[in-house]
Amino acid sequence: MLKDNDPTKWVYKEHTRVKHALLEKYLRAWIPILGSTNPRIMYVDGFAGRGVYEDGSPGSPVLAMKLADEFAPRLQSITLRLVERNEENYENLKSAVEAQMPKLLCPDRVLVHHSRGDFDEAVCSLLDHAESSGVPLGPSFVFIDPFGFTGVPLQTVGRILALPKTEVFFTFMLRDVNRFLELDQIAPAVDGLFGGDCWREVTANRDRERALVELYRKRLHEGANARYSLHFKVCESDSTATLYYLVHANNNFKGHQIMKGVMLSQGVNGEFAYLGTNDLAERTQTLLFDPNDTSGLEAELMRRYAGQTITFDGIMEAMCHPWNLEPPFIERHYRQVIKQMASDGSVCIRRISSKRNGLKENDLVVFAPRKQ
Ligand SMILES: C[S@@+](CC[C@H](N)C(=O)[O-])C[C@H]1O[C@@H](n2cnc3c(N)ncnc32)[C@H](O)[C@@H]1O
Repeated sequence: MLKDNDPTKWVYKEHTRVKHALLEKYLRAWIPILGSTNPRIMYVDGFAGRGVYEDGSPGSPVLAMKLADEFAPRLQSITLRLVERNEENYENLKSAVEAQMPKLLCPDRVLVHHSRGDFDEAVCSLLDHAESSGVPLGPSFVFIDPFGFTGVPLQTVGRILALPKTEVFFTFMLRDVNRFLELDQIAPAVDGLFGGDCWREVTANRDRERALVELYRKRLHEGANARYSLHFKVCESDSTATLYYLVHANNNFKGHQIMKGVMLSQGVNGEFAYLGTNDLAERTQTLLFDPNDTSGLEAELMRRYAGQTITFDGIMEAMCHPWNLEPPFIERHYRQVIKQMASDGSVCIRRISSKRNGLKENDLVVFAPRKQ
């Protein structure tokens, strides 16, 4: 096994670029939205890494510093907590942060704390302090990005998600979990990851990859206080094999919707995935199916809501449950289908939040009764 500071682990690969693209696009929305209405927001990078890759590309901590600074004029303050366990990586991280500090335009609003230590211990001590002092943690985005799958107990994820306005973005290292699942030595780590030994039920599953990621999301919902979750598959850069899944979990519908839009925009042909060496071909070939194909959505809306009146936001929120049946549609899909239904006469729209032709938020959608 290569050590975490081995230089080959710090070569910037396409799969890392994809991960950073999702992170950056989401933080671009999360920071200004949460930061403009809350005096303190926090970004935690629990497996922070070096700060800079071999080719000079910024790591997630530097990326977050740049974004925090860009939005800082609109915020009171944003705290960045960067935790790194490996000594050499930590020294690199420190240098990268120190090099970035003088470039910040609003250093008084971007508060950066780095520490050498273990993710789980660092986060639990933050949570303990919030509990014992009675000072709430505040809106927090926790990025959990290990090389492997140890050191991320579901219990800790559950403690984070139990607090209001918190979210986790986790690199679920599917390849390694799947590869080593039969090894007795790793059982305690896998128990910690899933919060129990339920994973043993899927070891014989024919599609073990899918079963593992679905089980992990199930555990987030049933054992770790997540109301919403999403996953995005990331293949290795030089093959089509799955490397990891980026899993987002939170309790806030707006954040969930934003991340869903980001995942859809970064995926291929409507799939929430980066497909490795197949990715470019998939993007450029004639589409076999239309990623914006919403057929089936109208029938599902009628099945659920015939004869009822419900707000536009209420429809989209309710469609997220149960989590494993949530369709891949985002706001514009719902708007398009409901407007079409309005022109066909199967719904009528009572505008509360929007004017004239719009459809948003608290606008009421009145569904016609089911035809007998
Ligand atoms: C995948 S890298 C992080 C990459 C970084 N987040 C980025 O996107 O640029 C994982 C890092 O976590 C560190 N690490 C490993 N175990 C850790 C633990 N228990 N707590 C904190 N850091 C850990 C490793 O040394 C490594 O630097």
